[in-house]
Amino acid sequence: MNVKTLGQFIIEKQNDFPFAKGELSRLLRDIGIAAKIVNREVNKAGLAEILGETGETNVQGEKVKKLDVFANDQFIAALKAGGECCAIASEENEEIIPIDSDISRNAKYVVAMDPLDGSSNIDVNVSVGTIFSIYRRTTLNGAGQLEDFLQRGTEQVAAGYVIYGSSAMLVYTTGKGVNGFTLDPSIGEFCLSHPNMRIPQSGNVYSINEGNYLHFPDGVKKYIKYCQEEDKATNRPYSSRYIGSGVADIHRNLIVGGVYIYPTTTKSPKGKLRLLYECNPLAFIVEQAGGKATDGYKRIMEKDIKELHQRTPLFLGSSDMVDKAMEFMAKYAEVGA
Ligand code: AHG
Ligand code: MN
Ligand code: MN
Repeated sequence: MNVKTLGQFIIEKQNDFPFAKGELSRLLRDIGIAAKIVNREVNKAGLAEILGETGETNVQGEKVKKLDVFANDQFIAALKAGGECCAIASEENEEIIPIDSDISRNAKYVVAMDPLDGSSNIDVNVSVGTIFSIYRRTTLNGAGQLEDFLQRGTEQVAAGYVIYGSSAMLVYTTGKGVNGFTLDPSIGEFCLSHPNMRIPQSGNVYSINEGNYLHFPDGVKKYIKYCQEEDKATNRPYSSRYIGSGVADIHRNLIVGGVYIYPTTTKSPKGKLRLLYECNPLAFIVEQAGGKATDGYKRIMEKDIKELHQRTPLFLGSSDMVDKAMEFMAKYAEVGA
């Protein structure tokens, strides 16, 4: 069998960047290593004493799970040990984690991450994920600073996610398409399984937490009704699929086509998901696969970012479906909803 490992693929692709000296390749390799360790723990979560909550609440006001902390620690340790990253921003840390060690002195990159996405699902054996986003630092030297992270999504150098599912997969982009790698546990390597991933232009899946229906903007309510209408020509009604693990929902939609929406609600008037380490990286991937990502009105990657943990609504997926949802947003915003 002719397998290509993530390591081999990254080195091959390094030549796409004329001035690359291998730093980004090494950074991606470090992320791959941490992903394997987290996968190992997630896999035996039912056996090890690692399920449940720590009893603490994070900066977002959410209950922290033991695996959130484990995944966060693993990624931070791998990035520190690799020496290619001068600061980390994580969902689990209120402030950035500056890195100023001997080996990271000339590091050019900063990494933003959601170490465990969908962690409310971990206790019930449902897929969870990790999301990461890489930027070139804007400050000159020393440890990275907050301003290195306050860049628009369009400035991302690379982004990806890992899904710890029925098999573990790492999907990433450096702005030249999207490639997916499946972990072969027998050799302990991520192997290229999904080269050049493309999201279908349209699909028949919509993913949204309909329990919040009453609190959605009118445009979203009307779009949901549109998804449920009978129409042979457009293959409606669409199917509703929502796991509550963003990475898993978005991974499925990326492969079969669909739209994922997390709009504003009365409870989360700015949306729930975070721009820096959830929406921008997912937007980069989906756009690179031929799809779209907006906040209902505007492209996610062009949004200004002022705070590390800034939230935004998210409409992401097959381009025709995102366009249609945005049409409803525009139409019903005019009516003064
Ligand atoms: P996290 O586990 O990192 O806090 O993120 C969960 C996110 C996302 O993955 C998922 O789609 C969404 O929150 C689920 O939220 P609801 O339970 O409000 O639907
Ligand atoms: Mn998340
Ligand atoms: Mn998380």
